[in-house]
Amino acid sequence: MPLDHKDKTTFRTFGRAKGRTLTASQEAVMAEHWPRLSIAPGDALPSAADGKPLWLEIGYGMGSHVLHLARTHPEVNVLGAEPFLNGTAKVVRGAAEEGLDNLRLFRGDVREFLEPVPDASFARVYILFPDPWPKARHNKRRLIRTAFIQELSRVIEPGGQLTFASDIPHYVDWALTRFRSHQRKNPGAGFAMNDRDPKQPPEGWPGTKYEAKARREGRTPYWFEFTREG
Ligand SMILES: C[S@@+](CC[C@H](N)C(=O)[O-])C[C@H]1O[C@@H](n2cnc3c(N)ncnc32)[C@H](O)[C@@H]1O
Repeated sequence: MPLDHKDKTTFRTFGRAKGRTLTASQEAVMAEHWPRLSIAPGDALPSAADGKPLWLEIGYGMGSHVLHLARTHPEVNVLGAEPFLNGTAKVVRGAAEEGLDNLRLFRGDVREFLEPVPDASFARVYILFPDPWPKARHNKRRLIRTAFIQELSRVIEPGGQLTFASDIPHYVDWALTRFRSHQRKNPGAGFAMNDRDPKQPPEGWPGTKYEAKARREGRTPYWFEFTREG
């Protein structure tokens, strides 16, 4: 049986899309800045207008890393995709306060956003601590699946970079098995793992909320970096 034989069905990969009701101040910040910061599926990508490289962070949670990317890489357009409203409101506030003009956000399932995206659009993609869905009956909800790796290989340019982090050994094995299998079946268009120590965070790593929780609970985070062949 092939890996992920049910890939034709799109299972929901995230938990909650909303937490506490936004405060009046968060609502006001959203009302003022969301129209400028948001991007919808099918919209022209910012790099089509200014030619800067485009990076994507999938599932930015409370947003510390996506804000860090936009802040430290003004030469890049950064996109973030995340269904969670409260994290999105935090990122919108941060972007407004820091005057970041190279950040756009999609609130929803990244798979819906990617569908109309042209091939080879992204120079770099981050998937940092995707929901682990540790129970066997929930494994099918994991974002890293054969069909999703296929989609990533379509939208990441040849030579582009992909970073995947997880603190769950079973998810690490699950993901690496699928990346290797995809690479075998798609010669020249797979993801080749970069030679680095996966226990070391990427350079300049700012930390994320989920990573801190994993460490508090005694789990070891791993970061894997891949180059899209081609
Ligand atoms: C465990 S949290 C980690 C958040 C953050 N990266 C961190 O390290 O703190 C995983 C995040 O991925 C988001 N997510 C799950 N499925 C997603 C999808 N299909 N598209 C976009 N984001 C998704 C969830 O809403 C959640 O915020």
